[in-house]
Amino acid sequence: RIAGPSGLVIFGVTGDLSRKKLLPAIYDLANRGLLPPGFGLTGFARRDWNADHFAEVTKQAVQEHARTPFRERVWRQLEAGIRFVPGEFDDDAAFDRLAETVAELDRERGTGGNHAFYLSVPPGAFPLVCRQLARSGLSDSKGDAWRRVVIEKPFGHDLASALELQKVVESVFPGDSVFRIDHYLGKETVQNLLALRFANQMFEPIWNAHYVDHVQITMAEDIGIGSRAGYYDGIGAARDVIQNHLLQLLALTAMEEPVSFDPAPLRAEKEKVLSAVVLPKDLSRHTARGQYSAGWQGGEKVLGYHDEDGIPPGSTTDTFAAIRVDVDTRRWAGVPFYLRTGKRLGRRVTEIAIVFKRAPHLPFALPDTQELGQNALVIRVQPDEGVTVRFGAKVPGTAMEVRDVTMDFGYGHAFTENSPEAYERLILDVLLGDPPLFPHSKEVELSWRILDPILQHWERKGMPDSYRPGTWGPDSAHEMLARDGRAWRRP
Ligand code: BG6
Repeated sequence: RIAGPSGLVIFGVTGDLSRKKLLPAIYDLANRGLLPPGFGLTGFARRDWNADHFAEVTKQAVQEHARTPFRERVWRQLEAGIRFVPGEFDDDAAFDRLAETVAELDRERGTGGNHAFYLSVPPGAFPLVCRQLARSGLSDSKGDAWRRVVIEKPFGHDLASALELQKVVESVFPGDSVFRIDHYLGKETVQNLLALRFANQMFEPIWNAHYVDHVQITMAEDIGIGSRAGYYDGIGAARDVIQNHLLQLLALTAMEEPVSFDPAPLRAEKEKVLSAVVLPKDLSRHTARGQYSAGWQGGEKVLGYHDEDGIPPGSTTDTFAAIRVDVDTRRWAGVPFYLRTGKRLGRRVTEIAIVFKRAPHLPFALPDTQELGQNALVIRVQPDEGVTVRFGAKVPGTAMEVRDVTMDFGYGHAFTENSPEAYERLILDVLLGDPPLFPHSKEVELSWRILDPILQHWERKGMPDSYRPGTWGPDSAHEMLARDGRAWRRP
């Protein structure tokens, strides 16, 4: 699958995401031979750069962050298609210049009128940029050519603003030209969840309330918010990743088999799950939120959230969030799904753990001191991508003692192929016009419907609970599971 003649315009190209992910991913695609030779890459930002400077910045980003080796020949070909347009988002003349640049790429590089506009900008700027794309004619596709828009999360701040945003975007671009990025869907291990469930016979029969006790989905990071105060404060952990990444993981874990992997059936199954999600009645007992304090992590002294650069005093933003939800379907009746995420936790790990019920009967007695463990199937999304099965095995010796052991599949051991970075796959899919990995507006809406009552509840409570760096969140997170007679896994 090689992209046809096309170009990508990135708004907000001077930001972190561009430097660390987008520009390196574009180079990697070029290096793997998946971009057309005349590919056009245009940056649009406030800074007074020119194409040469943008090319220099891109080269540095590539050399620092690309997955594939730097090759002069590939770079030179990419560099020849690099353009830059300086401007403010409310500057009509700048957008007219952008339209000229795009037309010039069509003439000089053969991009064929096919352009995608990547909005890596604060969400507040989405409506303005969309309106400018319409005003300058950039959103109009002519003949067989296409124009697409790529939107980075967060898609709104709550349900009302998400619906508002949706209206603006879809008044400019038809629904099938809007690509919402959830980079977790571009991850190899997330896609493997579908292979694991639907390309095998042994998992699906036990993937239900008869056998599963509960599901834990964890996305933990050891980093703090670093220089991202401007983005993060006022958004917080739940909006940043539960609304999108974690609810998408939940949907893929809980959904029924789609009739095919085409976008519509896949989406329909995810939507059914999200529509079936119900929240606990008493949110104060079944959710937890926290904010990291100052402390030590990995042998280093680290700042508390309030001392990070750019955080206003008294900020009530959550850097940890945990929620319980139930999926009200026959398959999942009575099986809680626990979702948690946080910054400055014990270590960086994302995993989906399906924890099974205990064996209903034992034909032998265990030593008095021993409690029977619970089988678990753990999909390790990252790092150390793979799958672990935990089960009880007899401890060698004369007594009938059973201890939990694990059986492992690791990508690194099983495959020699290296996996593309999530953004590589997603950018390629945008250029190919292939939407299964992009959440549809309905999914975004349903996710906000789930989160809104929780956010409102937290807002009324004020300050999140404090937790020390390097731990697994505030005490309230542990108490939340203990109330259900369960405990969080220690990844
Ligand atoms: C982003 C969040 O979506 O995902 C960040 O905005 C988070 O806060 C990042 O750090 C984590 O991504 P990954 O791919 O490193 O797990």
